[in-house]
Amino acid sequence: MTGVLGAQVSIPDVKTLSDSQVSELRDLVCEHLVVVIPSQTLTAQQQAEFSLRWGQAGVVPFIEPSPDHPNVIRVLKEASDGNAFNFGGSWHSDFSFQPEPPAFTMLHAIDIPPYGGDTLWSSLVAAYNSLDQDNRDKCASLTAIHTARDAYSTKMQSLHSGLSSMTIICDDTADDWQRHPLVCVHPETGKNILFYNRAYVRDLEGLDDSEKGTFLEWLYSHTTEARFTCRHRWSNGDLAIWDNRSAQHYALNDYTGFRRELHRTTVAGTRPRMQ
Ligand code: SIN
Repeated sequence: MTGVLGAQVSIPDVKTLSDSQVSELRDLVCEHLVVVIPSQTLTAQQQAEFSLRWGQAGVVPFIEPSPDHPNVIRVLKEASDGNAFNFGGSWHSDFSFQPEPPAFTMLHAIDIPPYGGDTLWSSLVAAYNSLDQDNRDKCASLTAIHTARDAYSTKMQSLHSGLSSMTIICDDTADDWQRHPLVCVHPETGKNILFYNRAYVRDLEGLDDSEKGTFLEWLYSHTTEARFTCRHRWSNGDLAIWDNRSAQHYALNDYTGFRRELHRTTVAGTRPRMQ
């Protein structure tokens, strides 16, 4: 999709892939970070079954699952929801505040607005690779504190109440936090990743207090530089699969007055590690 990340692959029907083809696709996702496969027909049940071929279902906190399947969430903003805050509307890696964040996310486009509602991804591998040695060493010495408190703690409930068809229930478990190395090694490719996202990283261990705020702001601007990103304009039926360990993403909210629905599944991951 760009010189840095993203690929489009034609597959007539992902439901018919053999085990070795699923494994080949998994390698492609790990290499390109996000792969879009157009024109897929999948019920919620079929998407959940396809996801299970990649690993166990990820644990989904705070969001009520689809009535059609407990492993699927409907990412849905109704036309009548106006300019309500949208789900995924800030740069994040899915649930990075968990001890074992999801390895992969799959998003299947059901009902896409006539314009707007694109998704952006950024490569945390490219963000790491662009660092000079001093910054690589500095980042490798730091631990990031991930928490959902500014997304799903009870004080955030009203932010989500504008989505009439999604049930998001904030609670105090959002105040919990997890320590993950700022530089992680991808468990499948061995590549280094700058595992930062603004939505959930709230602190850094290993830095003076006087430096933290500036360094967090720098991480945000660095990891979201245009040169590390790609952007997808959805069509109904597109299935995007991304590597949640080495890419962060952002759902644009520029389609006020139109309905947007996608179905999301996540595949369980492992604890992020330095090596
Ligand atoms: C998400 O963050 O999982 C949703 C992304 C999107 O709706 O584009």
